[in-house]
Amino acid sequence: MPTLTRRHVLGSFAAAGAVALCPATAFASVEWKSPQVGDTMPVGEDQLLEIGEGPVSVDITALMPGEVAVLRRPSADAAYLNTGGLQNIALHRRTDAQMADAGGDEYYVFNMVCPHRGFAISLTTDPARPFACNKQGGRHGSVFNAAGMGIEGASQGDPLTQPAHSVTAAGDTVTLTLS
Ligand code: FES
Repeated sequence: MPTLTRRHVLGSFAAAGAVALCPATAFASVEWKSPQVGDTMPVGEDQLLEIGEGPVSVDITALMPGEVAVLRRPSADAAYLNTGGLQNIALHRRTDAQMADAGGDEYYVFNMVCPHRGFAISLTTDPARPFACNKQGGRHGSVFNAAGMGIEGASQGDPLTQPAHSVTAAGDTVTLTLS
C-alpha cells in the first residue's frame, strides 16, 4: 500500500495562519502561486505522492490535524485535460475548529481542479480562504473557503469536486481508499 510520509505534507492550517513546512514548496502567498508554477500544476508539486491509475488504498496515518498533502495519479478523464491528464487530489485533515467552522468530515478530500475551466487549484496562506485557482487574472479568480465552496471569482457558488473515496481507521492506521 502506498504510504503518506511527513515528506509529503505541504503545509498546515492548524495555526492562526497557514505555515509552510518546506520553503521550496511554500503555500501560495497573496500572489496565489509561486512565479515558477504554471497554471496547470498545483503549488508544491515536487512533494506530491504519486499513485497509480485506478482504485488504490493509501496509508494516511502520518497526516496531522490542520495539514494538507496531495496525491497524484494519471487520468484519462476529460476533467483533467488542463492539468496535463493528471488528477491531483488534495487531502486536508481538518482541525476541530475547522470542522466547527466549515462543517463536514475530519478528512476533506477534493480534486485540485477548478470548476470553472479546469485549471489547477493551489493552497493559499489564509485559513479562511485556503484554496484558490492558479488562474487569477481576467474572468477567472476563483477562491474557495475551507468547505470547498467558491466564494469569489468565476466559481462563486460552485463547490470543488471530490473523487469517490472513503476514509477508515483500524487500530492506529488510517486508510484513504480511492475508487
Ligand atoms: S479556471 Fe479557475 S477561475 Fe477560471
